[in-house]
Amino acid sequence: MLIERLTLALILQKMDFKKIKKVTTHVLQEMKDKSVKISMLTAYDFSMARIVDDAGVDVILVGDSASNVMAGNETTLPITLDQMIYHASSVVKGVNRALVVVDLPFGSYQGNSKEALNSTIRIMKESGAHAVKLEGGKEVKESVDRIVSAGVPVMGHLGLTPQSIYKFGTYTVRATGDEEAEKLLSDAKVLEAAGCFAIVLEKIPAQLAAEVAEEVKIPVIGIGAGNKVDGQVLVLHDMLGINKEFKPRFLRQYLNLYDEMKNAVGRYIDDVKKSDFPNEKEQY
Ligand code: KIV
Repeated sequence: MLIERLTLALILQKMDFKKIKKVTTHVLQEMKDKSVKISMLTAYDFSMARIVDDAGVDVILVGDSASNVMAGNETTLPITLDQMIYHASSVVKGVNRALVVVDLPFGSYQGNSKEALNSTIRIMKESGAHAVKLEGGKEVKESVDRIVSAGVPVMGHLGLTPQSIYKFGTYTVRATGDEEAEKLLSDAKVLEAAGCFAIVLEKIPAQLAAEVAEEVKIPVIGIGAGNKVDGQVLVLHDMLGINKEFKPRFLRQYLNLYDEMKNAVGRYIDDVKKSDFPNEKEQY
């Protein structure tokens, strides 16, 4: 009886979060406090953002992974602040409920907290987004301090940080050794103390991610970081199966959109070639 009542209370709690009209950083904190998992996906344009928001995702990340999946670059390094603002302003127009977070691109914040704030102000003013994300731990503390002081929510990003790929050399799992694991945990605490509202942990051992989520009070969102964190994020193109080549172990693919789209385009080409399209009903 008691268990049934507790289960019902839990279901009601979870339903309430679905009913929330606007997700804010405070809502995300409440979700962590009540053990309700946070869902996050990337989007880079109006049409996709509208679908993802309508489905009820809590956070939409305008990730600098746009550099890979939208622009075809090998890394996230080439994407510019202007390009991120273009993607973010398109996404914001398609979103009613989700919190929209925008990546500060490589070169727009590293080593200079004033530049970090100026880049953030441009993103906030020109796109209408709700928060920014940046990569790194204690090296970016001053930038986080400055941005948070200006009233803008900041999401941190630790573990595999793709903007540092040439320092790492590979995209393999990070923080498997004690020294790097200790630095990651200490960086998470630095980011929390500096005022970050959440932290993304990318491609690290599940046990370490669980420890971080336990040690910090703010939400911890994982990608390739196991199930004992407060939420999950995936790149939309990866989970929809638009990227044929990218199949890391942590990815769950929900569609095979590459083949579905290719088949649809193939059928259209056939119809045109056969003079089957347009038919009488499809003309004036
Ligand atoms: O740019 C991005 O898509 C990201 C996610 C992988 C977290 O940073």
